[in-house]
Amino acid sequence: MGTATPTRSRILAVGRAVPDRVVTNEDLGVLMDTSDEWIQQRTGIRQRRHVGADCGATDLGRIASEEALRSAGLGIEAIDLVIFATLSPDIDWPASAALLASKLGARRVPAFDVKNQCSGFLYSLACADAAIRSGRARHVLVCGGEIHSSGLDLTTRGREVGVIFGDGAGAVVLGPSEDPGRGIFSVHLHADGSNAEKLWLEAAASRRRPRLLPEDLGGDDPKAFPRMRGKYVFKHAVTRMPEVIREALDHNGFTLGDLDVLVPHQANLRINQMVAASMELDESKVVNNIDRYGNTTAASIPLALHEALADGRVAPGKLVCLAAFGAGFTWAAALLRW
Ligand code: UT7
Repeated sequence: MGTATPTRSRILAVGRAVPDRVVTNEDLGVLMDTSDEWIQQRTGIRQRRHVGADCGATDLGRIASEEALRSAGLGIEAIDLVIFATLSPDIDWPASAALLASKLGARRVPAFDVKNQCSGFLYSLACADAAIRSGRARHVLVCGGEIHSSGLDLTTRGREVGVIFGDGAGAVVLGPSEDPGRGIFSVHLHADGSNAEKLWLEAAASRRRPRLLPEDLGGDDPKAFPRMRGKYVFKHAVTRMPEVIREALDHNGFTLGDLDVLVPHQANLRINQMVAASMELDESKVVNNIDRYGNTTAASIPLALHEALADGRVAPGKLVCLAAFGAGFTWAAALLRW
């Protein structure tokens, strides 16, 4: 540890991993009653990636994390804390973060999961930022990883949800910022559990005995697959995201005009377009890659950030906002100077 407590943390590097297997809208049309036209018009998604058998969220997470470590020029021994954001852990328990850390070669450092769906990456970033600011950790690995494909109902019954989600992982390494003008300014987190049933996976559940029943996988409305009230979720997303982006800007004395890049969670291209329009934010400032990966939940922000970094939209000196909305409901934003 350095002698002085750092004033803020900074994302030092980003990594990503997606499975090789591309699943197009036409491919899904073979499994269910849907069409490329419907999916593209309603969501902007053209394709997503699905893993093959025997690949868990931490297997993708490991590849993304290794890239982030390499880009940061750090070995795993430099990492003081591992946080894994996922709603699709390899197994129910123990925490997948411990599995990820162990796969990376870390056998003693603290590691925990953040199960906060689409906002999971930003909740994890807040924990990492706090750990670095307080001096508890110098370098933190935050990884968001999801395997949705093994948990979706890919029949007509589950089409509203099934076409949206994809598999992927993104990771960042954070460390203290040497330059007081750069790094994470603040992270703003919100949750409202009264809307839990609007987007949820109800079974297996500790409040039921047994936790999982054979009928949870069948019938008209199977509880063992994610279920969503799409329009309701959509309306909240396009309200809460602008709110929390403004909150982050206001908190730090910035205006929308100061913002260089918005990296939003990738739930639906139409959501991100409406957010930009309602804030009068030029769409060229908004990073979208949902057309190729679908909604990868906790992985979507680091995946998009990786892309924006590679093509130069995110670069040193840029004011960047990361924002998310999703199941819970939860919503969050982080403001940082790259
Ligand atoms: O990341 C977590 C946060 N999640 C979100 O933010 C998602 C928010 N919601 C959405 O993105 C949209 O609500 C959806 C893309 C999920 C759905 O779009 P929508 O415009 O709200 O469609 P809808 O649910 O109102 O469905 C319209 C019609 C229905 O048929 P009827 O009742 O009008 O005959 C659906 O049965 O479209 C039908 N439909 C489909 N048709 C073809 C639903 N899913 C599909 C499908 N293919 N995959």
